[in-house]
Amino acid sequence: MERKKITITDLHAKKREGRKITMLTAYDYPMARLVDEAGIDSILVGDSLGMVVLGYESTVPVTMDEMIHHAKAVRRGTKYAFLVGDMPFMSYQVSKEDAVRNAGRFMKEAGCDAVKLEGGDEVLEVTKAIVDAGIPVLGHLGLTPQTISKLGGYKVQGKDAEAAKKILDQALKLEKAGCFAVVLECVPDEVGQLVTDKLKVPTIGIGAGSSCDGQVLVVNDMVGLFDRFVPKFVKQYVKLAPAILDGLKKFKAEVEAGLFPGPEHSFAIKAEEAKKLKVQEVRK
Ligand code: KIV
Repeated sequence: MERKKITITDLHAKKREGRKITMLTAYDYPMARLVDEAGIDSILVGDSLGMVVLGYESTVPVTMDEMIHHAKAVRRGTKYAFLVGDMPFMSYQVSKEDAVRNAGRFMKEAGCDAVKLEGGDEVLEVTKAIVDAGIPVLGHLGLTPQTISKLGGYKVQGKDAEAAKKILDQALKLEKAGCFAVVLECVPDEVGQLVTDKLKVPTIGIGAGSSCDGQVLVVNDMVGLFDRFVPKFVKQYVKLAPAILDGLKKFKAEVEAGLFPGPEHSFAIKAEEAKKLKVQEVRK
């Protein structure tokens, strides 16, 4: 069957029909191509970029320009997946106008299909404004890494009934504000299930249990490229870092031993030309 570009309608149909949605992050052209080729429904150019690619301590320092630069590369590698640009800290908190302008940059400059922003009550007005401008918005509740200092660290959210009800309440408000789906990060399975049951739009979980309508992971985590720390909710499907390190060490050893490049990696000229060169060399 001919593959088609994934749309919000496809994502909503998946929820209705009980088929799971798959989402992974990507930050550059080669990874976007692989994720797209694997048939993943949606690619998120996450602001996790700051930690897993740019080497920052958190996602807070990531700028709009950095996000746009990477989102453009991901766009070039993505044919079918639904592409979401993650709005970085302070790109939507200052004013509605600022938020709409920055969301617009993801669409106009990077060719994204939607944007994601973190938070509940505090982003409802901004969410409505962005949606009214014709830009689809993906919500994000639970553990919201941009406000990690307010949350007191990377901790599971919604652990008691009151906190869980608050997450549900915020999710319903985000849905009403026009979000086409909501990411739930680091909440107990029961909270993932509760919110998934009550929302008409899909939930996409990361550390939110198997009841969510979809799952998202940071690609560098799940391919074992980022091992500074591995959160409990991450499954490493392949361990790339040790395989890459092994290759790098072999290259160093072979160059130092004069084994690389061998004849199979080198170019030669025809024997008669080589002969001429020798003559010329002798004549020098
Ligand atoms: O920035 C990111 O990668 C994210 C995902 C963890 C959902 O927000």
